[in-house]
Amino acid sequence: MRIEKDFNLRQYNTFGLDCRCNYFIESGSVDDFVELAASYDLPPEKILLLGGGSNFLFTEDFDGTVIYPMIQGMEVVREEGEQVWVKVGAGVVWDDFVAWAVDNGLAGVENLSLIPGHVGASPVQNVGAYGMEAADTIYEVEAVDIQAAERVTLGVVDCCFAYRDSIFKHQWKNKYIITAVTFRLNKKADFKLDYGSIRAELEQAGEEVSLLAVRQAVIRIREAKLPDVNVYPNAGSFFKNPVVPATLAQEMKEKYPAMPLYALEDGTAKLAAGWLIEQAGWKGKALGQAGVHDKQALVLINKGNATGLEIVRLANEIKKSVFLKFNVWLEPEVNVL
Ligand code: EPU
Repeated sequence: MRIEKDFNLRQYNTFGLDCRCNYFIESGSVDDFVELAASYDLPPEKILLLGGGSNFLFTEDFDGTVIYPMIQGMEVVREEGEQVWVKVGAGVVWDDFVAWAVDNGLAGVENLSLIPGHVGASPVQNVGAYGMEAADTIYEVEAVDIQAAERVTLGVVDCCFAYRDSIFKHQWKNKYIITAVTFRLNKKADFKLDYGSIRAELEQAGEEVSLLAVRQAVIRIREAKLPDVNVYPNAGSFFKNPVVPATLAQEMKEKYPAMPLYALEDGTAKLAAGWLIEQAGWKGKALGQAGVHDKQALVLINKGNATGLEIVRLANEIKKSVFLKFNVWLEPEVNVL
């Protein structure tokens, strides 16, 4: 177990922001976390559970303890017919898991290629892209209950998954240290090619549909649109795509025929926040060192030495403009601390 005092998280958040915490605790062992929970008083509001740090915006120092689980390992734990259950350590880099699944002919996460972050964060955020989300394949989540100092296994129903959301962001915030996630993958792929430009990308490359071809197409699309965190530190989509009543969406569509719109089964519709932001005139613009990516307006970038507050100010200005133009409030996808 590694314990650091008064630690700077700059290397641990993809926005590259300076943020100090009282303690930083890293371990690759589940037993360490049980022991930690048993030995120290860790009130939920004094804990920050950190994965790849790709979804945080720090606006001030964190007056508490950052827990950084680095539990490794990928293991097939069960096989039945075409289904294969794979248990993956929370500290495994998400895309290493996706690459492993694709290499082993296991389907279910290929559209989620190149999403930054660690596996342990995937149930929290219910990461998603191109018509797939982690919740489609998560079978169960192993964790340490911090107050009870014991190991627990949580079923998929317990997790209350929704679009970029789960119970771990609400009632169970800071209740559990997620240590491993078991995914149910499939030897037979059910390709999802119709969201975004995956099919067009495959056709353009003249490739047969396969797990690897889909993974590579997703990687090409993402690399073309999303900024490299090493060049422009960022946290991927800054806002969620707003979900509005279908009637409201239809009214907007009549006024703005080019507006992208995804009808959902429950009578609501999802709008493209990136489109709304671009229409509000923000694409490629900046306020100080905080900028809006010029190829995807949903992504805010640190253009140099931006502070968290500078990025929040930009986000607030964007929210205001979008609201004034479209009467729609954008909600951040990123956790602002
Ligand atoms: N659009 C614009 N201008 C922009 C950006 C987008 O007009 O600046 C339009 C696009 O042309 C398209 C629509 O908006 O018609 C949707 O854009 P895109 O396909 O790029 O996806 P998105 O809705 O902006 C979501 C996820 C991404 C994920 C992609 C692909 C959210 C908040 N974001 O973005 O996730 O990669 O779909 O599935 O749901 C992330 O969460 O960090 C992330 C990158």
